[in-house]
Parts: sequence; structure tokens; C-alpha cells
Amino acid sequence: MTDFIISLPKAELHVHIEGTLEPEMMFELAARNGVDLPFASVEEIGAAYEFTDLQSFLDIYYQGAEVLQTSDDFRDLMWAYLERAASDGVRHTEMFFDAQTHTNRGIGFDVFMPGFAAAMDRATAELGMTSLLIMCFLRHLPESAAIETLEAARPYLGQIAAVGLDSSELGHPPEDFARVFAMARDAGLRSVAHAGEEGPPGFISGALDSLRAERIDHGVTCDQDDGLVSRLVTEQIPLTMCPLSNVRLKAFERMEDHNLKRLMERGVKVTVNSDDPSYFGGYIADNYRALEHGLGLTHADLAVLAGNSIEASFLDDEAKAMLIAEIDEMLAD
Ligand code: ADE
Ligand code: ZN
Repeated sequence: MTDFIISLPKAELHVHIEGTLEPEMMFELAARNGVDLPFASVEEIGAAYEFTDLQSFLDIYYQGAEVLQTSDDFRDLMWAYLERAASDGVRHTEMFFDAQTHTNRGIGFDVFMPGFAAAMDRATAELGMTSLLIMCFLRHLPESAAIETLEAARPYLGQIAAVGLDSSELGHPPEDFARVFAMARDAGLRSVAHAGEEGPPGFISGALDSLRAERIDHGVTCDQDDGLVSRLVTEQIPLTMCPLSNVRLKAFERMEDHNLKRLMERGVKVTVNSDDPSYFGGYIADNYRALEHGLGLTHADLAVLAGNSIEASFLDDEAKAMLIAEIDEMLAD
């Protein structure tokens, strides 16, 4: 029997490319580039991935990214993700990259952008999979650094669809980045933002109002404010949720406690994504499966989630309609 979850045409809208770095590739690239790792083995890396909150993860995630040095490294990293995502039935993906994690180490756009382009072109040709890039600004750094990053990205804006906002949320409200998001919009970029992963619901409203975010990445704390949930429903603002990530970073103790199903039932446009799959124990299909088992989602629920991911993507209407028609056909069978 073919796997229903894998067969569903899906878009992945929340995946950090640096978070797809598998331990095996981390060792391979460390050896290739002469980078010292604080881990002796793949098993030791696995043992270090016991997180208590977002910051405890970010500390290890930024350290891991240091093995990425050459265009070929970025190409190999992204190609491995794209192949893996395609095998999970992802037909379109919108991938985050953290430019500042690399430029702050002296690795410029001229290094990572050609690597990304090579992998994305190959995915179109060989996997029939479309993809876009979203450049995230690191919110633990000042807005002036984000503006410098946008300026450095100018020659590459044809390759970038949107800007996003990620890294440590607590203490870093979205309003701090209103200017750089306005500049990005003026440059023709779309916008999304991480909000309400650990931060209060006010950060979600702030991302909508100050950054004009078209999607909210995570948004799990929205249900602390009924008015905000009503707004998300009325305006049909998509949430790109990442269930395995939320459990690993302790937003919920168990998958059974996750609020995704409750939000779906209230009419929020929820999508399912992997965030940083190599750190959180699963790619997109694993996230769908965890919800099926943990929250008792039916095939019809899973199809709604897949449909939401297509509708919430930045694909054009024609591409969306074709994928939605495929989902409808699966349900009719
Ligand atoms: N960067 C990578 N993963 C992230 C997450 N889940 N939240 C904020 N920043 C991130
Ligand atoms: Zn994320």
C-alpha cells in the first residue's frame, strides 16, 4: 500500500536549511574543511541534542553551521534536503537561510547563493520540485545589522522571494525590525516572521501590524488571546507550525498536548513543517505522522493540512490549483 502521507502533494513552508545539516554531513564537512568539532562521534552529537528551550537549541545550531565553508558545501547541504523532502512527497518548498550566520564568519553571498542556486536548479530538473528562498534576519542582532544584510543581498534579490525573522524570540519584539521589513517590501520582497514560538501573542499581532507578515512561523501561543485567534481566522493568516520542534523545545510536553488540532477546528489556516529536521528528529512526513498518532488526525484532516500548505505558499494561482486538484482526486479515490 502506498503511504497516504507521502502521496499527499505538500508544500514545506518552514524549514531552515542550516537545520537540515545531518550529523554525518557535519563530520564530513568538518573533515573536508579542517574545522574542529566539539563532538567525537555521530553518537555524541545525538546525545548533545537534548534541548530545554529555543536558546539551548540555537547555541548548538549556530555552532554546527560553522562547518559550512564553500559553495559546494551549501550546494551539498541543500541538495540532500531537497532529495529527502521530495521522497516525503514535498512538491514545493520555501526554505529559510540565515545569511548573517555566514557573513559574520566572513562567508559572503557570493559563496552561499551560487551553491543554493545549483541545488535548486537540479531539484527542478531532476525531482520536478519547485523551491524558493526566504532570507531570515537574526533578531538577537540589531536592526542595523539586518539592514546591512539586506544591502549585501541586493545583487541577489532575483533569487530571494521573501524576508523572515528568526533566532531568539524573547526580548526581541518584531517592532524592532519594522524599518528593514519596509525596505525589503519596497525592494519587492514578500514577508513572513517567526512569532509566538516562545514569545507572547502580542508578538504575533506585532508581526502582522509592524512587519506586515503574510504568514506567521509557529504562532503556537496565539491561543492565549481569543481576539487574536479570531483575527487569524477572519484574515486567514497561515501559521507554519512545526510539531516535532515544539515538543523538542518544550513548548508542549507531549505531542498529545499540541494545540494544532484545536486551532484547525477553530478555523485557523494551519500548515505542518519540519523547522530543523536534523535537530528535531524528523522531516515533514514524520511531523504529519506524529500528528496522526498524537492527535488522532484523520486522512481528511491530513489532506486539509496539505491543502493549506499549497494555498499558503507563494506559488501562483495556476500552480496551486493543479496541486489542490491532485489532493481532491486522492480524496475521491
Ligand atoms: N532558527 C532555526 N530554527 C529556529 C526556530 N525554531 N526558531 C527561531 N529561530 C530559528
Ligand atoms: Zn523556524
